[in-house]
Amino acid sequence: MALNTEVIFANDFYSKMNMQGKDILTLHELTTEEIYKILKTTDFLKKQLKKGEIYKPLKGKTLGMIFHKSSTRTRVSFEVAMWQLGGYALYLNQNDLQLNRGESISDTAKVLSRYLNGIMIRTFSHDDVVELAKHADIPVINGLTDLTHPCQALADLYTIYEYKNRLAGLKLAYIGDGNNMAHSLLFGCAKVGMDISVASPKGYQPNENIVELAKDDAKHTGSKILITDNIKEAVEKADIIYTDVWASMGQEAQKETKINALKDYQVNSEVVKLATDDVIIMHCLPAHRGEEITDEVIDGPNSVVFDEAENRLHTHKAILALVI
Ligand code: CP
Ligand code: NVA
Repeated sequence: MALNTEVIFANDFYSKMNMQGKDILTLHELTTEEIYKILKTTDFLKKQLKKGEIYKPLKGKTLGMIFHKSSTRTRVSFEVAMWQLGGYALYLNQNDLQLNRGESISDTAKVLSRYLNGIMIRTFSHDDVVELAKHADIPVINGLTDLTHPCQALADLYTIYEYKNRLAGLKLAYIGDGNNMAHSLLFGCAKVGMDISVASPKGYQPNENIVELAKDDAKHTGSKILITDNIKEAVEKADIIYTDVWASMGQEAQKETKINALKDYQVNSEVVKLATDDVIIMHCLPAHRGEEITDEVIDGPNSVVFDEAENRLHTHKAILALVI
């Protein structure tokens, strides 16, 4: 069954869906309808902001933002999102919580639930985020783990919709490390009926369990999923080319090995020529220019990376307004 994005965007059913209290841990755990609900709300809030209309549904609400890794986009956009929605965001780094001195995740979750209305967390272990969500009475939003980056993938789907006016039936080619970003795009594409091909060298391909889960989702939407080491095969007829850094946060010690293993998987002009003429180029940023992507491509006419970064703000507003 192929999904029709335009029909879904026009369908009023989604305005009646309630996502209050929902955790955002991976896109696999959201339904197709919930993902479209977030995308439609993003569209509404972005258009409203551009018209200068301010909508403040989160007056008196507080979001705790726990960061165990660096961040420019996630940190700033979540903080601004809370402020624009009328709420308050509390930035908590590694040294600000007793978690750092051995307090358990479950006790931390129970205590924070007494003060806050939501938690956004960026950390290493995905299991820690699952544990936090299990013991918290408030929604927990995954702001990136070693396994997934769902908020980024939601902003990416919205950006694709803005440029292509549909999602289902498009093809995304992800080139490079089969990392947290590749995993979230696999889930996201499978949920909305987009085809996805991931080209990575052997040993750096996406986690097999994630691929299997995405394939299960794809059975319901008609998405085709391909994991290959062949860039040409992945990029053929692609509407979107996506890449991400070769060494993610926490992999600093493997940086040289990974650069060496992935050096033939650069998104450069030759690779872009293999796709459709109106292909859009995406990257979650931060980019390591000259490694996974060339200046010419990231600064070129097909690149949408800064709209993509901007859309983090609008998507986070949608997520926060819906789950808090
Ligand atoms: N794309 C992304 O999550 O960026 P930051 O690491 O700057 O938050
Ligand atoms: N894969 C990258 C994404 C950064 C937003 C990392 O985890 O560092």
